Amino acid sequence: MLKIAGRPIEIVILRCPYMNMANPLTRELFSKMMYLKYKGYGNRHMVGSLPLDTTDYVADHPLICVRDEKLGLIPISGSKVITYDTCKFFNMEFAMESCFKKGNNQEHLDSLYKIIKDSQNNNKTIAYHGGYTIDPEIVLTAEDREAVRDLFMGITALYFKENNISELLGLGVPKFKTENFFYQWGYERCAANGVELSSFPLYFLPGVDGVMMHLSKFSEGITETSQKYRFIWGQKQILGELAPIPQKVRTA
Ligand SMILES: CC(C)(COP(=O)(O)OP(=O)(O)OC[C@H]1O[C@@H](n2cnc3c(N)ncnc32)[C@H](O)[C@@H]1OP(=O)(O)O)[C@@H](O)C(=O)NCCC(=O)NCCS
Repeated sequence: MLKIAGRPIEIVILRCPYMNMANPLTRELFSKMMYLKYKGYGNRHMVGSLPLDTTDYVADHPLICVRDEKLGLIPISGSKVITYDTCKFFNMEFAMESCFKKGNNQEHLDSLYKIIKDSQNNNKTIAYHGGYTIDPEIVLTAEDREAVRDLFMGITALYFKENNISELLGLGVPKFKTENFFYQWGYERCAANGVELSSFPLYFLPGVDGVMMHLSKFSEGITETSQKYRFIWGQKQILGELAPIPQKVRTA
C-alpha cells in the first residue's frame, strides 16, 4: 500500500461533476475538491484570487486522497483536465481562451487557435490541464512533497493515457517554478516564429504571471514514472460516468 506522510493513499477520479450531481459522493467530493483549491491557492496567492471557474463543473479531476475516519475521503493534491470537445459541448470558451481575450494577448490567442486546429487536423484529443495544488494543511516533509509531486505526475499521465488525451495545454507559474516541473512531462513553452511567447498576468491570480505551455509528446521520464504507479492506478475509484454524455443531454 502506498503511503505518504504515513497515510495510505487512494486515487479518485472525480468525473464531470455537473453531469454526475445526482451521486451524493460526487457532490461531497466536488465540495472537498473546491476546498482543496481554496486552501492551496489561498495559502500562496493574494486575496482576490479565484482559482475556480465554470470549467471545474465539467472537467475531470484526478485526485490524490487520504481517508479520514470522520470525514471520509480527503483530496490532498490534484488538478483538473478539460478537453476542448467538452468546452464546445457546453458552449464554453476553452480554458485559456478567455484569459488571453481578457488580457488582449493576441499572439497567445493565435498560438492557441493554431495548436487546437493542428490537433483537430491530426484527430488528436486536446485538453487543458491546470489547477495543480497541494493541501497546505497536511504536514509534509521535503521527501513527502517530492513523493506527492512524483505520484501526481505518474497518475495524471495514466489518466491521460486511459482517456486518450495526447495533447495538452497548460500554464506554468514561474513564481513557483512549476514550468520547470512541467518541462519534465514533455511540456514546452509556446513560441511564435522561434521566439518564446512572453509571460502574461493571470487575471484570476492577481499579481502573478503565467507562461503558456504545450505538450505534444510525453517525455520518457513521465512514462517511466507512470509505470511505478500502475498498481495504485488499477485500484482507483471513478466517481461519475464518462463525460460528457451527449445522448443523455440531447434526449432530456
Ligand atoms: C504548485 C505547488 C503545488 C508546488 O508545490 P511544491 O512543488 O511543493 O513547491 P513550492 O511551491 O513549495 O516551492 C516551489 C518553489 O517556489 C518557491 N516559492 C514558494 N513560495 C514562494 C513565494 N511566495 N514567493 C516566491 N517563491 C516562492 C520555493 O522557494 C520553491 O523554490 P525552490 O525549488 O528553488 O526552493 C504549490 O506552489 C501550490 O500549491 N501553489 C498554489 C497553487 C498554484 O499556484 N498552482 C500553480 C499551478 S501551475
